[in-house]
Amino acid sequence: MSRLRSAEWYAGDDRNAYIHRAWMRRGLPDDALDGSRPQIAIANTASDLTPCNSHLDEVAEHVKRGVWEAGGVPHNLPVVSLGETQVRPTAMLWRNMAAMAIEEMLRANPIDGVVLLGGCDKTIPALLMAAASVDLPAVVVPGGPMLTGTFRGVPLGCGTDVWRLSEEVRAGTLTEQAFLDSESSMIRSRGHCNTMGTASTMGLLAEALGMTLPGTAGIPAADSRLLARAHATGLLAVDMVRTDRRPSTVMTAASMHNAIVTLAATGGSTNAVVHLLAIAGRLGLPLTLDDFDRIGAEVPLLVDLQPAGRFLMEDLHRAGGLFAVLREVSDLLDPSAVTVAGTPFVAPLSSAAVWDNSVIYPRSAPVRPNAGIAVLRGNLAPAGAIIKPAAATPALLQHRGPALVFDSIEDFHARIDDPDLDVTPDTVLVLRGCGPKGYPGMPEVSNMPLPEKLLRAGVRDMVRICDGRMSGTAYGTVVLHVAPEAAAGGPLDRIRTGDMVVLDVPGRSLTVDVPPDEFDARPPSQALLDGLARPHRGWERLYVDTVLGADTGADCSFLLGSSGPRVSRESH
Ligand code: FES
Repeated sequence: MSRLRSAEWYAGDDRNAYIHRAWMRRGLPDDALDGSRPQIAIANTASDLTPCNSHLDEVAEHVKRGVWEAGGVPHNLPVVSLGETQVRPTAMLWRNMAAMAIEEMLRANPIDGVVLLGGCDKTIPALLMAAASVDLPAVVVPGGPMLTGTFRGVPLGCGTDVWRLSEEVRAGTLTEQAFLDSESSMIRSRGHCNTMGTASTMGLLAEALGMTLPGTAGIPAADSRLLARAHATGLLAVDMVRTDRRPSTVMTAASMHNAIVTLAATGGSTNAVVHLLAIAGRLGLPLTLDDFDRIGAEVPLLVDLQPAGRFLMEDLHRAGGLFAVLREVSDLLDPSAVTVAGTPFVAPLSSAAVWDNSVIYPRSAPVRPNAGIAVLRGNLAPAGAIIKPAAATPALLQHRGPALVFDSIEDFHARIDDPDLDVTPDTVLVLRGCGPKGYPGMPEVSNMPLPEKLLRAGVRDMVRICDGRMSGTAYGTVVLHVAPEAAAGGPLDRIRTGDMVVLDVPGRSLTVDVPPDEFDARPPSQALLDGLARPHRGWERLYVDTVLGADTGADCSFLLGSSGPRVSRESH
């Protein structure tokens, strides 16, 4: 092992080394800071205000045991945490800020490697973006999904069933009291959402990228085997420092390829698209929106999980987990990808087994044959838009209908349930001003609730188009991440109610049927411009001024790439 980075702080007899050691001793063994033992940070997103991650302090204790056992010295490092259901206006506004803060604290401190503890939606992406930009040895322990709760004898999928039950209330098929009664059953245990939402997706993709101890992602948060894996990850982190295994050697084009295959085979969240693009942007990998379609579109969906299916994450783990799914599509994976353990990513697949074929389907009879993200282009989305066909109504994947345009989510809420609203099941609901700059932060509002009068008539899906995102726990025929966004001058700013919209998912196009000369000559909607955010200071100002489009991952322009781990100057 070459000289440790932390020895820059701790080794030697000078005054600065004295200061660094003296303030850190506090009961540590005498040799803990002699410059020979790897210092391992545990970047911990535990927070009482991030309820999905509140158990991570216990996970951190087990990581510490492993680090000590391997001869390293562990340090708990609380980092910015984002509770998806709690922070306003949207956790995505803070993803880049969290990544930036984590990156800087990893670089500024006397550490040699880091164990990343995340769970709730934005936390694993922010941790991976930070780790990519610092490029110190790093390994993820996903916090794991919660156990399955039930209401009136039926499993509840968190997130997904909130949308479903609230729509039932609006449709008049469920009482408001019954809806409220379900609230205490929704969150059964520690852990993140138990559907194949964004948190579950990003946990599995951290593993698909090679960034976890193999076999860790998907273990339920309440399962004691997660703590055993945390211990083993602590051991591994020390070994990674000794062998200098860094994110830039693990997260490669090959592992991005495998993550996209995994995303499709597991029916993962559309949010993974912006997160993977952002991580790739930190690594300097040439990943593009079109790669999701090229690599993933023909991958079969093999799991019957909510939001689109029946089961929940606990069932996936019981049925064999990620390896059992990927074994079915192992020929589609890139075998050159490696893991943080230094092993080929595909190595465990040959011994994986499916224990419940109702949860994990065989390749020969998949849930859906072509399940990956589809990328659409056309005069409404020149830089691209995405749709998840697996969560859509097949009959709506080719559709022509008149637009009903909303200039903000407030405009939408004010009008959508108006009994006199001119809307039919063929109408295409268009919501703009919800992109990264426009909202700001690109909120999960694209899966607009349907008009109440259509719900009561039995309609359960309509084509919807938006420059925002959609919750990973949501479903429907929703075109999202439209780029450029309306607030950045994208053509969505000129569409008008009544324009005919043509969606052709098999043909990969999204167009408005208005003569080009007429469309281009239109001014942008004044109501849209009036409603756009213009923050005058703070992070929101920096974000709005620098955030890039969804088509490249919605990172901030000044955060692209890596600065590495070096800090050249002493603090004293
Ligand atoms: Fe935290 Fe869903 S709210 S994962």
